[in-house]
Amino acid sequence: MANSFDIVIFGGSGDLSIRKLMPALYRCEVEGKFSDDTRIFGTSRSTKSPLRDKVLEGLETHLKPGELSISTWEKFSSRLNHLQLDLAGDSEQWSSFAETIAAPAEKPVVFYFAIPANLYGATSQHLSEAGLITDNARAVLEKPIGYDLESSKEINAAVAEYFSEDQIFRIDHYLGKETAQNLLALRFTNVLFEHIWDNKTIDNVQISIAEKVGLEGRATFYDQAGALRDMVQNHLLQLFSLVAMEPPNKMTADNIRAEKLKVMQALRPMNEEAVKHNVVAGQYTGGEMEGVSVGGYLDELGNPDSSTETFVAIRAYVDNWRWAGVPFYFRTGKRMQEQYAEIAIQYKPVSHQVYGEEAGRLVPNSLVIRLQPDESIKLTLMTKELNSTDMQLKPVDLDLDFSDTFERRYSDAYKRLLLDVSENNPTLFAHRAEVEQAWEWLAPVLDAWAKPEHKPAPYASGSWGPLAAEELLTGQGRQWNGNHQT
Ligand code: BG6
Repeated sequence: MANSFDIVIFGGSGDLSIRKLMPALYRCEVEGKFSDDTRIFGTSRSTKSPLRDKVLEGLETHLKPGELSISTWEKFSSRLNHLQLDLAGDSEQWSSFAETIAAPAEKPVVFYFAIPANLYGATSQHLSEAGLITDNARAVLEKPIGYDLESSKEINAAVAEYFSEDQIFRIDHYLGKETAQNLLALRFTNVLFEHIWDNKTIDNVQISIAEKVGLEGRATFYDQAGALRDMVQNHLLQLFSLVAMEPPNKMTADNIRAEKLKVMQALRPMNEEAVKHNVVAGQYTGGEMEGVSVGGYLDELGNPDSSTETFVAIRAYVDNWRWAGVPFYFRTGKRMQEQYAEIAIQYKPVSHQVYGEEAGRLVPNSLVIRLQPDESIKLTLMTKELNSTDMQLKPVDLDLDFSDTFERRYSDAYKRLLLDVSENNPTLFAHRAEVEQAWEWLAPVLDAWAKPEHKPAPYASGSWGPLAAEELLTGQGRQWNGNHQT
């Protein structure tokens, strides 16, 4: 279905817009998702470099080979408008901006805040004063919203003065990933899983987002944020809430968000001592990535003193009936050995072994939900080895690979979420309460790491992170899924 709306991207020529938003919008064009009157505006402070050129260059770099076609680009670029706007500019500038983007009142307009979060409040105020916040206006807020609980509350409150909660879409693109949604389908449409989704059968849950990339030219943002604010506060905790939440009564936005919030509230609070034992910060040093030697974080940054973490691992517990006693391990890092995101559910061993040792080692079942690079769900079961005359057991994977099973891969999370905003569907967006709850849970970690004596543990580029992250698990007789690939 084609959607009629306008989208205004504040920070239109910035990194997020060029790398993710424009390619996602281009893909909407390819799929005929825009009606003829849909317009795309990108604002930036300067007019020096024309937006169109930058967008085209970005599409050439970030789309898959063969995705860019001249005819689609012509159509797409005819919707694309560059607006020069200084967000801190005077009311005259904002009035002329309002005139340029003027549209019939019934046409939805999406304001995408691809700018630092401390500008969200003031920008909302300008929009309001320029008369642009009509009933059909929506605001998309990028993460991280704030720097800690207090700043997050301030930003949310400032935006809430002008936009109502149901006009605000707090985007977390991990929720738009196909397999994240498939996790919900798996849990709530199959009778099998509900019975094996608690502390009676599950030994531990691991959520990993490992990246090979380093700073990617985002030094200013990243060095202020670090992996905890960039990845854990949002992506990892959102994935956690999908895994651990109770079944909602219905798959409506309110029901889902209420359950996600409830399980986040059940995360066991940490104190300074708990942070010391359950949370690991790391920073990459030089090393080798696929045979090429690369510099460390501090070299890339050009500042030898930064104690910003590029790796985080956490052992967490959920104090509720379903999950009591089950550790949840979270891990994310840059410059790691592999690039992947997955949720691994590790089951308990069978309660009594009926086969002798000669039949081979029993590997407990596991269910691994891969979000990327390959989108798949894999259940590992023990079976008898085919044609063995004596009883030999071995683990075998039941593998649901979505690229094989479904003809076309639908893997642009931003495209999916932008279309949801245009259709006013907030199901896959975080409520203010969830965002603030996530900050609240992490507050003791932020406090501990703000101390001058805090130093992240070094780890070599191309490794699996600091040893202490392994020890979070090995100390309990477990290991990270995937590390055996070393
Ligand atoms: C972003 C982070 O939100 O997610 C980046 O700011 C990170 O640091 C990126 O690289 C990872 O997203 P994806 O979809 O490439 O795994």
